[in-house]
Amino acid sequence: MTIVEEILAKPLFSKEDLLVLLGSQNVDRLKLFEKAKEVKTTCVGRKVYFRGLIEYSNYCNKNCYYCGIRAGNSRYARYQMTDAEVMEAVSYALVNDYASIVIQSGERTGKTFVDGIESLLKMIDRQSEGKIHVTLSLGEQTRETYQRWFDAGAHRYLLRIEVSNPELYLKLHPNNLQHNYQRRLDALKTLRSIGYQVGTGVMIGLPFQTLDDLADDLLFFRDFDIDMAGMGPYIEHADTPLFKYRDELLPLKERFDLSLKMVAILRIMMKNINIAATTAMQTIDPQGREKALMVGANVIMPNLTPVKYRQDYLLYENKPCLDEEAEECKSCLEARIHMAGDTIGYGEWGDSIHYAERNP
Ligand code: 5AD
Ligand code: SF4
Ligand code: FES
Repeated sequence: MTIVEEILAKPLFSKEDLLVLLGSQNVDRLKLFEKAKEVKTTCVGRKVYFRGLIEYSNYCNKNCYYCGIRAGNSRYARYQMTDAEVMEAVSYALVNDYASIVIQSGERTGKTFVDGIESLLKMIDRQSEGKIHVTLSLGEQTRETYQRWFDAGAHRYLLRIEVSNPELYLKLHPNNLQHNYQRRLDALKTLRSIGYQVGTGVMIGLPFQTLDDLADDLLFFRDFDIDMAGMGPYIEHADTPLFKYRDELLPLKERFDLSLKMVAILRIMMKNINIAATTAMQTIDPQGREKALMVGANVIMPNLTPVKYRQDYLLYENKPCLDEEAEECKSCLEARIHMAGDTIGYGEWGDSIHYAERNP
């Protein structure tokens, strides 16, 4: 047996094991991918769940150094979808048997916003007669807000830790209370205690980030016992402070390959969580999402945002699907998923099996 084969046969990976897997090349790398595919097939099945993505608003109070829609960037026209537009996207999801949607936006607080989301959640539940499950991705909020949204019908919440190393976190965000590592961690814990299915994730290939950091990210996911993960390559954006480090980054291809390895390793470590094949992966490689599905991912988020807003929701550059209507993304993804050898779980919520196990 090679070293990688020995590691892959272990029930629990150590940090050293993770570093070997992240650095694996050639045959070893393919062994890792093969094992991840096997685990996916036996533990969650070859079914992919759709989460219709609604990019609700690009207003954001924060200034993360990597993100194109940071408050400090005046290049984009700021928008908020109307309730009617959201409900139209919800109807599309309903008619097309997407049993689940994600509402995402820049981080906003304030009564109008919080009330607005609460009322949308109630409307969605009513209009879909409970058929549509909603995932929120609306950043850090107070416990009270998280609780209200949960009571109004939200089932899952995505909040990426972004990087699990607090020192690295500090280099990627302004140093103030609003961008505080501990606060983010506390928000994740609060979501968990309220009863959400909790998803988190990281960016891969950031400036200053090392393989050691990525190994720690994987251990963080395991220790936190997450239900869902969304990870993708970091992609530079010209209107952001981190852009000046663009020459120090790993080449795009390597960032992509590391992202694939992160997905594969996480699938083997946490066999029955949901893992997204993220849009950022497709930004680098036209077949990026299919490749992620083949090494363990089992969730895809087709974009349902009205096309007129898409070019204003650019967290990173070269984001795909800026002109494609929901229908085009649907048939495109159907073909891609088919090519990856999976089927689509139409009409199924596709809840995290891991979450169900945690809450028998
Ligand atoms: N490249 C890749 N991902 C990014 N995100 C924000 N900016 C970038 C970027 N430049 C990710 C963050 C955030 C998610 C919504 O988008 O991880 O949590
Ligand atoms: Fe705002 Fe999220 Fe972008 Fe940070 S990553 S600036 S919170 S939209
Ligand atoms: Fe949008 Fe392929 S997923 S066009």
